[in-house]
Amino acid sequence: MSILIKGGTIVTADQTFRGDVYCQDGVIKAIGVNLETPAKTEVIDAGGQYVMPGGIDPHTHMELPFMGTVASEDFFSGTTAGAAGGTTMIIDFVIPSPKESILDAYQKWRGWAEKAATDYSFHVAVTWWDDSVHKDMGTLVKEYGVNSFKHFMAYKGAIMCDDEVLVKSFTRARELGAIATVHAENGELVAHLQKQIFEQGITGPEGHPLSRPPSVEGEAAERAIRIAQVLDVPLYIVHNSVKESLNAIGRARAEGQRVFGEVLAGHLLVNDSVYRHPDFEYAAAHVMSPPFRDAENQKALWKGLQCGTLHTTATDHCCFCAPQKAAGKDDFRKIPNGTGGIEDRMGVLWHHGVNPGKLTMNEFVAVTSANAAKIFNIYPKKGSISVGADADIVVWDAQKTRTISAKTHHQKVDFNIFEGMEVKGANTVTISQGKVVYKNGELRTIKGAGRYINRPPFASYYDALKLKREVEKPTAVKRTGKKAA
Ligand code: URP
Ligand code: ZN
Ligand code: ZN
Repeated sequence: MSILIKGGTIVTADQTFRGDVYCQDGVIKAIGVNLETPAKTEVIDAGGQYVMPGGIDPHTHMELPFMGTVASEDFFSGTTAGAAGGTTMIIDFVIPSPKESILDAYQKWRGWAEKAATDYSFHVAVTWWDDSVHKDMGTLVKEYGVNSFKHFMAYKGAIMCDDEVLVKSFTRARELGAIATVHAENGELVAHLQKQIFEQGITGPEGHPLSRPPSVEGEAAERAIRIAQVLDVPLYIVHNSVKESLNAIGRARAEGQRVFGEVLAGHLLVNDSVYRHPDFEYAAAHVMSPPFRDAENQKALWKGLQCGTLHTTATDHCCFCAPQKAAGKDDFRKIPNGTGGIEDRMGVLWHHGVNPGKLTMNEFVAVTSANAAKIFNIYPKKGSISVGADADIVVWDAQKTRTISAKTHHQKVDFNIFEGMEVKGANTVTISQGKVVYKNGELRTIKGAGRYINRPPFASYYDALKLKREVEKPTAVKRTGKKAA
């Protein structure tokens, strides 16, 4: 099975050039001008269009059991919706319940994900601690291709990690050559504020952002960064939404610490007024954590993306339909947290990022694909257009316009946080593993065609750090027992 993408302009994270791309058996076999068309090759005319690496969404939650319900989007429908919008790989999360074996949870998620239509991988959350977790983290890194462990600093009484678990898990991640990742919100403060606000009579969704003010996120981001600094482990902070977090990341990076930041398309483009909407269903549909923020924070997020404090864009795609959100009709604390977006991330980022000149096309590729591949150690297999790379590709028409709507989207959820947004720039073709999975409105995804992608640990970096540590080992003071004069 081979495909020749002809006549397009190839855009990667660091180059823009004219060329054809020939893909065979799932990988890119040749790139060049006027490549010959071998027999039995499907030709895709990319004249006047851009040819870019398929999007990688490094933060999704397909069919996640959460807050008493299960996310409505499954691995097939979710990866299919992603393909419709130009995303060809997701990194989802295994989230064990407290006391559940993390290895058993990992196997459970692997089973659910077998129906995925495009490639996928897993971060594994550490939600509790004992010797088995220590051991299983090793097995996951050495035998199952996991190189990132997630820590929820919020969701008290459910999956929240206290500092002890953070310290133990970060230490273990460091030993194994894995990266630590965090959802940074102080869960203790959230629980305290939620109770206070509820008791003041604020029971509706407007209570959600009030219980999660910027300092709650900033404190947790700074704490995670400091813990990572002491333990010398790289850190990736998911869904940064406020200046406080960006400042913490910027400060740490300026001091030479390896900290990476993610921002959600939703946080960039939806503001906190949605929580004050009179219709409960509308307001509740936007309940996610951290909440959408005010315009000043949104502006800071765009600047963070432009200047390199933020490295990746994601969606935190975690869908709940109106009947599920209704669980919190009388108590905002019970509204399942989560919103969708996998289908629209690429389009809204192009429209609001590239079209007004906030991002160059190369930066667009970096923040939608290449940077995630680099941070999670699967570059250039993913996130690049290069010979030998996986043929996960989008053909992008910068002139194509569309209006986003839940009525027409492919996501398995009854709401779209970008409803009514008109965007210019969209994929006309999406290719996954060298096969067309979307073409001009027609989906060709196949259940189960997606593969699990192993992500190796960061061995050389850690070996170097280990050497540095040995040199810097502190020595005990030898005491003679003599009194000082
Ligand atoms: O509200 C959110 N973000 N739900 C999904 C779980 C998480 O915190 O990422
Ligand atoms: Zn989160
Ligand atoms: Zn999440």
